[in-house]
Amino acid sequence: MSVKGKIGVLTGGGDTTALNATLKGVALAAEEAGYEVIGICEGWAGMLEGGQAVRLPAAAIDENRGGTIIKSSRTNLRRIEGGIEQASRRIHQLKLDALIAIGGDDTLTVGVELAEYHRGVPINFVTKTIDNDVGTNPPPGDPPDFEAMKNYFCPGFPTAAQWLFTAADALRTTAYSHDRILILEAMGRTAGWLALATCYGHPDFIILPESPLDVDAFAKQVAERYLERKHAIIVIAEGAVDPEGNIIGESDAVVDSFGHKRLGGVSEWLEGELQQRLAQKERIISASAIRAVIPSYLQRCGSPIPVDRDTAMAAGRAIVAATLEGKSGYVGCPVRRGDRVEAEALPVDAVLPRDASGTVIPRLVDRRLYDPERYAPTPWAAEYFKPIFGPIAPAFRYPDLEPYSGE
Ligand code: F6P
Repeated sequence: MSVKGKIGVLTGGGDTTALNATLKGVALAAEEAGYEVIGICEGWAGMLEGGQAVRLPAAAIDENRGGTIIKSSRTNLRRIEGGIEQASRRIHQLKLDALIAIGGDDTLTVGVELAEYHRGVPINFVTKTIDNDVGTNPPPGDPPDFEAMKNYFCPGFPTAAQWLFTAADALRTTAYSHDRILILEAMGRTAGWLALATCYGHPDFIILPESPLDVDAFAKQVAERYLERKHAIIVIAEGAVDPEGNIIGESDAVVDSFGHKRLGGVSEWLEGELQQRLAQKERIISASAIRAVIPSYLQRCGSPIPVDRDTAMAAGRAIVAATLEGKSGYVGCPVRRGDRVEAEALPVDAVLPRDASGTVIPRLVDRRLYDPERYAPTPWAAEYFKPIFGPIAPAFRYPDLEPYSGE
């Protein structure tokens, strides 16, 4: 049977567990419509002269395996001289009838510029990022209209979030057993969605980048909780900021081609700050009982959970349908319908808000979902997460054991 045409697909930015699922949805829908899928290797790098491409049949893609079969990179065509022009020529050379880029805000920003330059074929997108920072929040109002959110979640986020809240919950058994304060560091860059989702693991405190951290005030609350319970779990987002708005765990040593500095280590900084206040000054705990835990890439690897996998596949299918209708500049997005999440294609401008200079504005955690005074989610956070993870189960409570002295 002769193929009707070729659809190119690429994956850019940090990997997630749901990328292969999106690729599978793209490949299945393309093949059902008589198109062949061409995988562009290593993100936008594969669109440069000398880049690699492969035939990508649906049968070769395992949607239950994380990462991306066609690999990824953080290549920024806008920073490479003639990069956009090279990518445009490569569309012709590979005889592509359409291009689908799967990525976060950086990958999509490059794709939008390429689409403006190369108007010959549809160029469309599907989001992915464990940071969940691509899309829009509910419009202002009480109660928040969650169904009005564009790109309800970014494929890859649910699996990372579930991994992290499972870890937050599990840490309590060792924290309790040794009377420790454990500080778990969440990825997510400047957005606190991953940290917020740990409400499913019932940590005592969650610190988001959206609310500057006054460490003196925070240490007082931790001391009170420790005196009451003799252990505590703190989750801190890697992008947490000080009262002057500086990102505490930012390092100038590594900067990617999109200008992002590497983040990491804020939990170790907080470990030191709490040791000074609660161990050296207050003497209510030993310094060695306050410990940071940095799970790093464990948060974004492994297999996708079913809701993530199935929504990612549906988003892949939705963007192929839009592409074959001749639409360009669309994004395959999860959308909320009641307590379910489905997928549809939406115009990129509706999904990616930009400032006056054209820079994409990341979706930060909506203020209605978090109480910075208590370092805790509001009930609206549970309402946001409900279609993804279901209701939050009650926290485990250790029973009060009766003292016994031989009498
Ligand atoms: O953007 C996704 C993400 O995992 C962030 O949460 C994290 O800060 C960053 O990527 C890590 O980047 P890299 O993969 O380059 O180490």
